[in-house]
Amino acid sequence: MIRQKIVAGNWKMNGSVESITALVTDLLKADSSNSEVVVSPSFPYLHLVSTLCAQNDQIKLAAQNVSDKASGAFTGEVSASMLEDFAVKYVLVGHSERRSLYGETDDVVALKVQSLINKDFIPMLCIGETLEEREAGQTLAVCERQIKAVLDLLGVEAFNRIVIAYEPVWAIGTGLSATAEQAQAVHSGIRAFLASFSESVAQRVQILYGGSVKASSSRDLFAMPDIDGALVGGASLDAKEFLEIVKAAG
Ligand code: G3P
Repeated sequence: MIRQKIVAGNWKMNGSVESITALVTDLLKADSSNSEVVVSPSFPYLHLVSTLCAQNDQIKLAAQNVSDKASGAFTGEVSASMLEDFAVKYVLVGHSERRSLYGETDDVVALKVQSLINKDFIPMLCIGETLEEREAGQTLAVCERQIKAVLDLLGVEAFNRIVIAYEPVWAIGTGLSATAEQAQAVHSGIRAFLASFSESVAQRVQILYGGSVKASSSRDLFAMPDIDGALVGGASLDAKEFLEIVKAAG
């Protein structure tokens, strides 16, 4: 099954008008017209308006989070309906930093996915285990538990409109990426888990790898049959490095 590759860039709480404008300019200048790869930078909300101009056939903006609530007295939150005023295509949900620092549970993450599925967004469902969970042999059990919360709420067909981002927590921001083989083993396990509910959905779902992705490691990752792209953090802030990763996916 050929699945379109996605290289997403999670800027997290970084950037300025100047640095984000510079990156968008470099992305637009890059000669990647011959590439089928979707490039999805995700800047902080404040920059959504000014970067909408960057969207084209290849570049599709992403938001970094969304409320699980529709509207109301939730200070500081942004709802899916608010995001509808901005032509973002993807929305990250359940990033490990949201889970660990802001207490987002599997059920809250599933509700966020639901709020997006109900509108024309594609959630990027972030999952992944901690080092302790990996060392305890719980990697796939953790990923399956995180996916199951969405399956229980929305059913397997919802995954026709969900991208999964496997991001081992121990690889995020550490410079210690999973090897291509380690990532492939988990990606194929995730796909096999979904196949136990629907083979056709499992074959179609795009599964990205995230966690210290660099240009030097990306070609080996993208050569793996169940790795359909990357969710890049630190390296996405450097236009040259990020574009090298996009090129490696092409
Ligand atoms: O969402 C992507 C991010 O968590 C990975 O960060 O810096 O390890 O590429 P980094």
